[in-house]
Amino acid sequence: MRLTVKAVFEKKKKREKIVALTAYDYPLAKILDDEGIDIILVGDSVGMVLLGYDTTMPVSMRDMMHHARAVSRAVRNALVVADMPFGAYSEPAGALRNAKRFIKEAGADAVKLEGGRKIQTCIKALIQAGIPVMGHLGMTPQSFTQLGGYRVQGRSVHEANSILKDALLLDKLGVFAIVLECIPSLLAQKITRRVKCPTIGIGAGPATDGQILVLHDMLGFEGHVRPKFVRRYAALERIARDAVKAYRQDVLAGKYPSKDESY
Ligand code: KIV
Repeated sequence: MRLTVKAVFEKKKKREKIVALTAYDYPLAKILDDEGIDIILVGDSVGMVLLGYDTTMPVSMRDMMHHARAVSRAVRNALVVADMPFGAYSEPAGALRNAKRFIKEAGADAVKLEGGRKIQTCIKALIQAGIPVMGHLGMTPQSFTQLGGYRVQGRSVHEANSILKDALLLDKLGVFAIVLECIPSLLAQKITRRVKCPTIGIGAGPATDGQILVLHDMLGFEGHVRPKFVRRYAALERIARDAVKAYRQDVLAGKYPSKDESY
């Protein structure tokens, strides 16, 4: 059985760290699930990581549904969260329609939305309809132009207070967790202490209740910018390049396929 949002919520009380990663396809989601990852996020980062976009803005519901379905097919144990893409929650009725599609048609357990006060009517509508919601505050990539690019948020007192205010509101509305992206560790610690729901940090220091990273970043695909919080746990791009190079050389030299590899 998949982990429930209630079980995720309770991990905070038990002081158990929550381990989350993104996934966009069946084979990698299966590895994450087999290895005990608690939350698998089908992030709209898929746009930059797999689809070749410069930002997450062009990612559509169609893209997200395609990837959420593939991930859902693989996952038995983790909680699957689908990211609502830019434009999919401009007003409550649309938000509800799109979130329901993730749950009913793609097999996701919950959805994630970026923002606080500005999207509170959408979040309220989803929670009232029984759809578990994960919040996302700080550096929210869908508003990167308004935020002045990909930069740490909450460094000024004004920004920090605004993020704290949003976190308190999301907690009150009943989100089951909040992603805190690229904010100072001290602010993340303060929010984590003040909210009942777990916080999941990405570039938010060690005090949050859990951590999340973009899978391809931590596996060592070098495709896009590498923020300082990303730790490389593997060098898969290097391995893939070496394998492709070796295959090419073998084909050119007539060394592949061998007799044993032929019928
Ligand atoms: O889309 C995504 O991958 C995310 C994570 C960075 C939290 O929102």
